[in-house]
Amino acid sequence: MQPKLKSKVRGADQEIGEVTKVIVDPLSHEISDLVVSVSGTEDRQVPMCAVETVTDGLVQLRMSKADFLEFAPFKREDYVTTHEVEIPHLEDHLHVTPGEVLVPFPELERNVKRRTFFANLTHVIGLFIGLPLAFPVLKYLMKPMYSPFDNGWLKIGNVGKIKADDAGTQFKYKRKVKEAYLPEAEIEKNVWVLKATPAVLEKVYQGKDMEFHDALGKTIWTNKKDVPYIAFSGKCPHLGCGFKWRQHKVLGQVFLCPCHLSIYDAAGKVLDGPAPRPLDPLPIQISASGEVQIIDMEFKAGTKSQTRIV
Ligand code: FES
Repeated sequence: MQPKLKSKVRGADQEIGEVTKVIVDPLSHEISDLVVSVSGTEDRQVPMCAVETVTDGLVQLRMSKADFLEFAPFKREDYVTTHEVEIPHLEDHLHVTPGEVLVPFPELERNVKRRTFFANLTHVIGLFIGLPLAFPVLKYLMKPMYSPFDNGWLKIGNVGKIKADDAGTQFKYKRKVKEAYLPEAEIEKNVWVLKATPAVLEKVYQGKDMEFHDALGKTIWTNKKDVPYIAFSGKCPHLGCGFKWRQHKVLGQVFLCPCHLSIYDAAGKVLDGPAPRPLDPLPIQISASGEVQIIDMEFKAGTKSQTRIV
């Protein structure tokens, strides 16, 4: 008969305590030891060879209580429960509550710190070997993300296309772009150009020339406040949609963004809608022959302040 949990444990001379756990040999599935609680002192681990008989609810030991107390106190940290370590078919052999069945802590797991150290060492060595190989690839992939802005001038058309003052005229152009590791592609973009009257120029420039800077803060171009041509980025500062020059029932001619109905006047000022800032003016210059050139810039959408992103 197998010892049961909570069975009384008796010595040769007197009652000792009760069985609180059983320890199983993971290979033979036989109970090798009992853990016996004793009032007033630590639990003791008793080998099965010290057991004389097992009856229903009672474990009789061969020795006296004094001899029993010579057994080493039970060290819980040396064992794991059979919940933590799977022992196949254990329940076919054992008839005690599984949660209280212990097996010796696996030797391999005791060395876990040492194993972890070697595993980490392997990773570090792998990193040292792999990094020089991966570096050129990473550099290639990340280069476009950190390349400086392109501040080259783009020819987009001739001022002859503009038919009236203070009226938006759309100029389309193509531009080559390189996104991260993707191949270079050509995309179509547009800006709106105005031949502005002094009143509109004043609203845009407020009496000051407008400077444009590179990523380091160096001035790359200055739009002079009295040059009548103004170019606005074709992207709405709200969320980046394309907008149009349209007739409004009440406001007259305006820039109208169809996405969320932001409305801007000819100077790019917000008249209505959710746009957080005016339209974004771009660097513009007109050649002697009337060729319009701009520096293509894009700014973060949805923000009150202007932050260049392209
Ligand atoms: S994107 Fe233009 S109003 Fe929203």
